[in-house]
Order: sequence, then C-alpha cells, then structure tokens
Amino acid sequence: MDREATTIEIDLLLEAIFRKYGYDFRDYARASLKRRLRHRMSQEKIQSYSEMQHNLLYNTAFFDRLLESLSVSVTEMFRDPNVYRILRESVIPILNKRPLLKVWHAGCCTGEEVYSMAILLHEADLLNRTQIYATDFNQKSLNSAKKSCFHKSKIRNFSENYQHSGGTNSLLDYVTMQGDYAYIADSLKTQILFTDHNLATDWAFGEMDLIFCRNVLIYFNKTLQSRVVKLFQESLAPAGFICLGHKETLEFLDSEDKFKEIESNSRIYKVKQYQVNQ
Ligand SMILES: C[S@@+](CC[C@H](N)C(=O)[O-])C[C@H]1O[C@@H](n2cnc3c(N)ncnc32)[C@H](O)[C@@H]1O
Repeated sequence: MDREATTIEIDLLLEAIFRKYGYDFRDYARASLKRRLRHRMSQEKIQSYSEMQHNLLYNTAFFDRLLESLSVSVTEMFRDPNVYRILRESVIPILNKRPLLKVWHAGCCTGEEVYSMAILLHEADLLNRTQIYATDFNQKSLNSAKKSCFHKSKIRNFSENYQHSGGTNSLLDYVTMQGDYAYIADSLKTQILFTDHNLATDWAFGEMDLIFCRNVLIYFNKTLQSRVVKLFQESLAPAGFICLGHKETLEFLDSEDKFKEIESNSRIYKVKQYQVNQ
C-alpha cells in the first residue's frame, strides 16, 4: 500500500469531519486513530478512506457511529486505586484548607471517575463546598453518566478498587440496587454538573483547584497535548493540581516547567510558580 497516499486520504477525511461536524481529530495520535478508523471500516464493510469520507459527509448516522469508534469509552470506578490513595493522603489535606473548591473532570466518559471523586470528597467532608464540572465531547457517554448507574457485574472490581484506594466503608454504602443495576446515591450527585466540552476546540474553565484528565492525552499527538495542558494551565487556580493517567506525563510538553509532580510516578502535578504555605 502507498503510505503517502494513505496519509493524504486520512488527512482529507479528518478535514472533512472538522469542516462538516466541528470535531477536530487532526492532532490525534495517528497510529491509534488509524486502528480505530480501520475497525469502523471493517464493521461497515467499507473498502477505503475515500468511501468512508463520502459516507460521513452525507450520512449523519454514519458519523455518529464513527464518533463512537473514535472516542474510547473505557473507564472504571477508582481506576488505578493508588492514585486515589495519594489524592486522599497528599492532595485532599491541602484542598481542605481552601474555603470553596472547584474540580474539573475533562474526558469524564460515563462518570465512574467523577463519582469516585465525589465519594472521596464526601469522606473528607468536603463535597458540600465543592463544585464538580464533568465534561466530555461524547454526548452518549454524558447521557449515560447522568443516569449514574452501572451494571451489577462491575461491583466486585469497583469495590476492590475502592478498598485499595484506602476506602474504609463499603462501596455498597454509596449505591442502591435496582434490578441488575447499582444506582449512585443522590447525595453524591448534587454538586456535579455534566456538560459537553471538546478539549481540542473549546475554551478554558476558570479557577479550578483540581483538574482530572486521565487516559485522554494518550490519544493526542504532542502538539495537541501541549495545547490542552496550556488550556489547563489557564483554567487552574494558584497552586492547583492536575491528575493524569499513569501512561501520561507532562514531561517534554511546552508547560512542563510550570508544574511539579507531587510524588514520583504519581502523575499528579501541582502548579509550581505559586507557593502557598501548607
Ligand atoms: C479512555 S476514556 C477515559 C475516561 C476516564 N477519564 C478514565 O480515565 O477512566 C477517554 C475519554 O476521553 C474523551 N475524549 C476524547 N477526546 C476528547 C476531546 N477532544 N474532548 C473531550 N473529551 C474527549 C472520550 O470521549 C472518552 O470518554
């Protein structure tokens, strides 16, 4: 296969998506993007990127299916429990000294990460003075997040994660079972606002104390990673924190020198230039 021709075809396809639908995948990491495009092609029995381009330009339902393939919707509660342990032990005590808190989950998917954080804040008696913004560009995931339930088959894994994160209660204390689903307690939901936001094209938020963006940057190339971290920098309060996924890092990005990792390999970074007494 002619590699250069394939690259041109993909460039044109991404340009078509951007111009027709406003979703900007042009600076996503190419290898994984290509895998996802090929997966969709085989599902739809499509032979070429050009045919795919024609379909998405003239068929919105086709584009919706493609969007599902391009947005990787894998998540779980207390994913990487050690991160939540470090948040409990090293970040929450600092946040506890601030009168009002703002937390942003960028790329929140179906909400499991958001409800995990709500539990952490509740256990630290901080939830009622925190506003949580939970955003994603995938409307279907956001709708599912707002339903605030998960299948009972996931309870065991989520409960083990919760315990490993240092949780001292039972995860079941925070859900109500109804049929095959566990519903998150209403008291955990009052401070959460789920809303549509595209990290590649949308604006900064203001004065966040903590930004989660876990397992999202990994799908972007270095240019987009740097742009998004700049957006986070603009969205953070002085001495704010960013929490990334364990395969993600701020190293080698433009804003690297503005942050300090709070513990080696924790992937939790604090804004450097503002030193507050702690
Ligand atoms: C693998 S999930 C990670 C979910 C959660 N943060 C976690 O770590 O469990 C990646 C999420 O990023 C979202 N995403 C990808 N590109 C995005 C963008 N440009 N703007 C906002 N969300 C995006 C996807 O829709 C998906 O929900």
